[in-house]
Formats: sequence, structure tokens, C-alpha cells
Amino acid sequence: MILNLTLTTNLNTPLYITIRLCFKRHHQNSHTIVSSLTLHRHNTSMSPWMIVLITIGASILIYKLLNLISKPSLPLPPGPKPWPIVGNLPHMGPVPHHALAALALKHGPLMHLRLGFVDVIVAASRPVAEQFLKVHDANFSSRPPNSGAKYMAYNYQDLVFAPYGPRWRLLRKISYVHMFSSKALDDFSHIRQEEVARLIRNLASSGSKAANLGQLLNVCTTNALARVMIGRRVFNDGNSGCDPRADEFKSMVVELMVLAGVFNVGDFVPALEWLDLQGVQAKMKKLHKRFDEFLTSIIQDHEVSKSEKHNDLLSKLLSLKEKVDEDEDKLNDTQIKALLLNMFAAGTDTSSSTTEWAIAELIRNPGLMVSIQKELDTVVGANRLVNEMDLAHLPYLEAVVKETFRLHPSTPLSLPRVANESCEIFNYHIPKGATLLVNVWAISRDPKEWSNPLEFKPERFLPGGEKFDVDIKGTDFEVIPFGAGRRICAGMSLGLRMVQLLTATLVHAFDWELENGLLPEKLNMDEAYGLTLQREKPLLVHPRPRLAQHLYLYDDFNVCPIMVLPFTDKCLLQHQLKSYKYLFHFFHILLH
Ligand code: HEM
Repeated sequence: MILNLTLTTNLNTPLYITIRLCFKRHHQNSHTIVSSLTLHRHNTSMSPWMIVLITIGASILIYKLLNLISKPSLPLPPGPKPWPIVGNLPHMGPVPHHALAALALKHGPLMHLRLGFVDVIVAASRPVAEQFLKVHDANFSSRPPNSGAKYMAYNYQDLVFAPYGPRWRLLRKISYVHMFSSKALDDFSHIRQEEVARLIRNLASSGSKAANLGQLLNVCTTNALARVMIGRRVFNDGNSGCDPRADEFKSMVVELMVLAGVFNVGDFVPALEWLDLQGVQAKMKKLHKRFDEFLTSIIQDHEVSKSEKHNDLLSKLLSLKEKVDEDEDKLNDTQIKALLLNMFAAGTDTSSSTTEWAIAELIRNPGLMVSIQKELDTVVGANRLVNEMDLAHLPYLEAVVKETFRLHPSTPLSLPRVANESCEIFNYHIPKGATLLVNVWAISRDPKEWSNPLEFKPERFLPGGEKFDVDIKGTDFEVIPFGAGRRICAGMSLGLRMVQLLTATLVHAFDWELENGLLPEKLNMDEAYGLTLQREKPLLVHPRPRLAQHLYLYDDFNVCPIMVLPFTDKCLLQHQLKSYKYLFHFFHILLH
């Protein structure tokens, strides 16, 4: 389309402005627009200011015309009215998944917001989430640009933020084969069980001081993951001989989640990025430097001990670095560090904070706690700890874990996706480049899907319950704690196993009292916000052992894998011999 416009000023001086608009229609709603403006000044006596003013006026006119012409035939989804420049950023509030859930009640489950200059689409119901993550999943299989990926995740060289394509596929395949496949999970189950047993002993030794359960859980999940990834622990759990850099690393992971959860103004108003108004980018760069030093030293240590046979993820990654023949499978140091960083960040706090929520819910519901303890006593007994093979025989426990993921999804706004092309969903226009936020938290509390959605009711997942057979692994969209579609959580199988094993073992091994005799019904269940869902107040508890004493007394789990295996006769004999040793050790401690 070409449009010619002639303006004549009311001065005696004629001014001709030619406006050319070329308008191409590519897809249903996507256009390329080329425009040009030619200004012919026929009378040199006209003031330069007048020319500037007329030029500005003409430009605004062009802009308006372009907007009019390029407007898609369908409307954008409804949403709150944006402010100038910052758009709806002020609507996000201190806890964005709460604020967005409240806005969805007013504007509907498919919403459009404008954060700065970025279109943001929010999905807040099962059918809407299904449209994005199933029907249109291919179109939403990359993540939007953001400062976290740029400054912390090695400028998109990682798996979480890699654009959908061959490198993403390669990183996903490597981590699947070495960490998340059924075989890998089974091969490393003894490591998880040893670390959980270690946690039990640490809790039992907390004495009269209340234990910070979330903190100890985080040490456990990180050490379990680190042993699979890099072949050693990274956290100090109170025993001597552990890595002194471990405590520092833990605070770094928490800081990363907090920074990644901030809606950074610079991501949405590019002109303001350089100002770094919230100081987020500076903190990210500083944190990145510390992570990089840590990860570099891990790789160096590993390369020094090359002669030892390692069976961990890092060894595999380093072998790909040396590959000379197949270029597409080759990784460089930066990509290796980025992948390790992803796993530490995405795979530790998610599992530990979910378990912390599960125990808090059970403490608040003592009847449920007793029911699961009964199930565990029947299946496992009082003389050994739970192992992963038991999990298939604990349906009540499974329902409790599902209900915890429903009420306390550890990534409440999932991870953002971006629209590769514009598309149409439920008769609304979704613009190309729009960021998609799926409010997983709001969906799993939607009263249209759940009866008494705010109540912790694991029975809803048991036979006869309203959601019996509903799966939480990305096929039933009313509860999608791990996301869904192509970019579904890569570590879902591991995360699920870890949360089940931890919850089962903690409930089986202890009765629980709250700090300072706090009554269970008074327990604060408020949420804080980072990228992951933290408790606002940590869960401070007194664990009271309830199983055979020897289970709380092992002093070196690395050389004691036997205790976590199911008992064969031979094992039982060895186990009893050990029990006497530890009984003796126990009395020895008492006497001194
Ligand atoms: C309680 C456990 C966990 C929860 C609730 C969880 C949740 C999530 C969610 C919601 C996503 C975004 C999915 C999407 O875009 O649709 C995600 C992605 C991811 N998670 Fe998890 N996660 C958990 C455990 C883990 C573990 C244990 C690991 C690894 C050790 C892990 C590694 C990842 C990775 C690498 C991605 C990015 C996948 C991609 O972009 O292709 N997660 N997770």
C-alpha cells in the first residue's frame, strides 16, 4: 500500500510533505512496514523551527497511521491499564504470583500486561495453560531475553536459557543420559540415600537447640546432587573434613534465586538498562564472578585428578570438550560451567523447599502425620530407614507429596517463555515476542478445578478422591509444578524422587515439635518471593527420634552404604554387628 499526503501550511509558504508507506502482510497478524518522509521546502523564508514542528507533527501522524494499519484484526487479551513508560510494572507488587492471581480474578485467566515496552501474557487457568504449553508449545519453546541469563548464566550459554535448537537439545540429552534417565537415577540412588541418612543423624544430634529444617534440607539436596555431578560434597553439614567453601556456596545459590526473581526494570525498558535503577545488574555481575571462580576451581580440581576414574557428569562433559571429530557435540569450558550452574541452582532449593513445606503442612495436620507414619511403619518397619524401592508401596505418602506440589509449587510463575511468532489463542491476538508467564500457583488453587482449594487434603489424589489419577508431571494441566511441553523441567524425575524420599524419611524417623512449644495451628505459612517459593519464616523444629537408635548414630555414611539397602540376611547380620558397635558408641557419649 502506498499513501501520498500533501500538507499545506496556513502561512503563505507552501510546504509539501510526501509520506510513503509500504505495507506488507506476512502472516495473519504480522507485518513489515517501511515508511519514508520527504519534506520539500519551497520557500526559503520559512523559519527552521516551523519546519521542525511540522516534521514532528508529520511523524506523529505517520506513527498513528502505521498503528492503525498494522493493528491486528483480533484484540489483545484484557488486562489492567498500563502506566506511561513503566506500564504495569507497579502492578506486580512484592509477591508477583499473588498480584497476578488477584488481577486474573478481575480481568480473566488470559491476561495481557505491558511491562515497560514488553508485552506480557499471563495464563492463569488449566485450559489457558494447556493452549500455550500443549497446543502452541512449539511456538513458546524459547525463553525471553533477561538480565539473569545475560549476567549470571554465561550470556545464554546454559541449558535453562538456551534458545530452542541444537545446543539446547545436546545439553538436555547429556544431562538426561547422565543424571535423569531411569538407569542414572537407579545407579545413583545409594548416594541420595546416604545423604538423607546423614541428614537424619544431623537432625538427631541437634539437641535442645531448634533445628532450621530448610537449611539442613538444602545442605542434603546440594550434597546429593554434587556427588552425582562432580563426584564430591560441597556443603559443610557440621562434621569435620568437609569443604570449607560450602557454606559460602549455599548463600550464593539463595542470592541467585532472589536476583533471578526480581522484575528488573532494565529488562522491560531497554533505554533505562544502563542506569540499573534497582542495582540488580551490579549484584548479578558480582555474584557471577564468585560463581565463576567456584566452578572454575571445581573443573581444575577435576582435571588434576584425571587419572582417577570418575563416573560423574563433569567427567562426561570434560570428555566432550576434548572431542575433535564431531564438532556439533563439542562443548567449551563456558558451556560446561553454565550447565553445572544450572543444575546447582535449579536442582537444590526446589527440592529442599518443597520438602520443608510438606513437613510444615504435616505438622499443622497431626492426623495426617499419624496416618503416614502408620503407612511407613507397616511398609518399612522400625529397624531401617526408607529406601527408594519402598516409594512405590507408599500411596498415602505419594498423595501428600502431590498435594504439597499443588499448594506450594516451588516455581510459582514457572520460567518465562517467549512467543516465537504471533498467534491466536481463544480469539485473542498474542503478539510475536510476547513473554509468557504461567501462573502455576494460581492454577493449582483455582476453585473451578479444586474443592476447598486452600485446604491441604492429600485424599483428593487417592482412590475415590476428586483428582484420583491426576498426574503432576505435565500431562494434567490443573497441577503443573514442573511446567509442561518441550521445556518441562529437565530434572523432574530426580526432583520428585528426592522430595518423596526426604518427606518419607523425615516423617518415618521423627515426631516433630515446633520451636518454643508453638502450637501447630499457629505456625506461620506465609510465602516470601524469589524465583523459587520460600517460606517467609524458616521452619524451626525439634525432631524426636522414633525408630531404632542405631539409625541415628552412624558416623561415616560414605563407608556405610549397607544401612540404606533393603535387608538381605547377610546385610542384616552385618547390620546387627554394626548396631552393637554404635550402641557402645552411644553409651560412651552418654558417659562423657
Ligand atoms: C521440586 C523440584 C523441582 C521443581 C518443582 C522444578 C520446576 C521447574 C520448572 C517449573 C521449570 C520450567 C519448566 C517450563 O518452562 O515449563 C523447570 C526447568 C528446569 N529445571 Fe526444574 N524443578 C525441580 C527440580 C529440578 C532438578 C532436581 C533439576 C536438576 C538437577 C532441575 C533442572 C531444571 C532445568 C535444567 C530446567 C530448564 C529446562 C529447559 O529449559 O529445557 N529441576 N524446573
